[in-house]
Amino acid sequence: MINPNIKAFFDPETWTFTYVVYEKPNTPCVVIDSVLNFDPKSGRTSSNSADELIIFIQKNHLQLAWILETHAHADHLSAAPYIQKQLGGKIAIGHHIQDVQKVFKGIFNLEPEFKVDGSQFDYLIEEGKNLEFGNLSIHPIFVPGHTPACMAYEIGDAIFVGDTLFMPDVGTARCDFPGGSANNLYKSIQKILSYPDNTRLFMCHDYPPSNRPVAYETTVAKQKKDNIHIHDGISEEQFVEMRTKRDKTLQMPVLLLPSIQVNVRAGYPPPPENNGKRYLKIPLDVL
Ligand SMILES: [Fe+2]
Repeated sequence: MINPNIKAFFDPETWTFTYVVYEKPNTPCVVIDSVLNFDPKSGRTSSNSADELIIFIQKNHLQLAWILETHAHADHLSAAPYIQKQLGGKIAIGHHIQDVQKVFKGIFNLEPEFKVDGSQFDYLIEEGKNLEFGNLSIHPIFVPGHTPACMAYEIGDAIFVGDTLFMPDVGTARCDFPGGSANNLYKSIQKILSYPDNTRLFMCHDYPPSNRPVAYETTVAKQKKDNIHIHDGISEEQFVEMRTKRDKTLQMPVLLLPSIQVNVRAGYPPPPENNGKRYLKIPLDVL
């Protein structure tokens, strides 16, 4: 088994990590969970975060094979189309995105032409169907809970966990978005924790306590021992009770509404209106 090189990029506005995964310079690579910067005050997008990783890929002469999403993020816009325009690659997400599209087509009353078959993405990923890039292979793991469509990606000795586990002192992802389920998240996390103890785990976010800097990498062993929400010995029932109680205290993410509308379209903005401009919607008293 070849273990990949992993370069992490941190977006401080949304606490998101984007990863470039590759074997060595001059080989194919993948990008996981990219960020398009968005200023909610002005409605402007910009590409500082994505440009950083584009420069890294170019400097290392990597060929971009896949632009992966672990799920339809609710806290940042995806830069997948922007990155694809510069570097190529196929945009892919778990095939259950179709369920997420159905829910949000209703919530946002999206245009009738909006398809809920995932066809905005170049490829829909299924558990058990590996994706190849160079000498490396991506093994998708279906990990619903935070959303009904979440995937984690195993590449060599590493798993990109998406929004399932956070660093051990932060815990786990919320389960109160439409289609979320704390019971499912518990089962999904057990799937990840059934891998060998020394498996490297890469987080999608970090929300560190004030006494440590941001961190993105841990192991199965550390999570089983120290995760504050789901360490060894916590039952499904205990976890679900804690998660449900905690979710009731959380506010919606600042970028929830813009993010979802763009991310169910694979990162593309909504179609222009008859004045040529594109708009995002805010549903009143719905969420
Ligand atoms: Fe998320």
